[in-house]
Amino acid sequence: MNSGQGKRNRFYIMSIHTPKTDKKITLGTIAGMKGIEPVTMVTAYDALFAQLFDGEVEMILVGDSLNMSFLGKEDTLSATMDQMIYHTQAVCNGAKHACIVFDMPFGSYITPETALRNAVRVYAQTCAQAVKIEGGKEKASTVKILSDNGIAVVAHIGLMPQHVRSEGGYKVRGKSEADIASLLEDALALEAAGAAIILVEGVLPEAAKQITEAVKVPTIGIGAGNATDGQVLVWSDMFGFFEAFKPKFVKRYCQGAKEVREGLEQYINEVKSRAFPDGEHTY
Ligand code: KIV
Repeated sequence: MNSGQGKRNRFYIMSIHTPKTDKKITLGTIAGMKGIEPVTMVTAYDALFAQLFDGEVEMILVGDSLNMSFLGKEDTLSATMDQMIYHTQAVCNGAKHACIVFDMPFGSYITPETALRNAVRVYAQTCAQAVKIEGGKEKASTVKILSDNGIAVVAHIGLMPQHVRSEGGYKVRGKSEADIASLLEDALALEAAGAAIILVEGVLPEAAKQITEAVKVPTIGIGAGNATDGQVLVWSDMFGFFEAFKPKFVKRYCQGAKEVREGLEQYINEVKSRAFPDGEHTY
């Protein structure tokens, strides 16, 4: 192949993906969508998939869920700042349009001062536009110190995966009037402290609806019904790559693992039978 042909092929490959937008999505863009258009968010942990999602969804979360789906751990608790920074830098290399959120790992925001020190590192070393922390009203002072210092916060309430060990499992919230009232208090306290977005996980739809109506900032739901201002899913769940378990709220939009297994089987058969490489794939 001559070098001109090689260049044309590369251009062709790059232009297959036509992003919906060529603008950078900011937190202001997301705020402006409340009540107008639902926000789409997915997780990503590397440049390859970030590039695939970029320009399509408005937001990408570098979630500590990577500890489970990609590192094979039981829960998210052992994710570290170094790992999260490394993966966020990779996502930043691939995504130039989406609004990128960094998930603060367990233990990295134990006090407001620790949170500030670690979040400053996130802003200094990655392109993330916001950090996400789990917690209700007890984290309001943490949200405040971050937002007072120019760091945007996504406040994650409801079912909080980092609490799985202390709570003895993943517990759906909002099942009683008292719990709904407590979730509303959380959302309002976090909003008053400066949270840019409230992420609501594992909450009955009525509770999520009330939270969404109570706050002026956008809410993003996961396992929280369809009344929130946006939705987020973990990509390996939604595309059928993570098969260890499937929470009820996960919809599989394709059967990734099945397709990979089928492709792999075909490859193995073709190598064993010497059908691959054929003439088309040989210099
Ligand atoms: O880590 C993650 O992917 C998350 C989502 C489940 C919201 O926190």
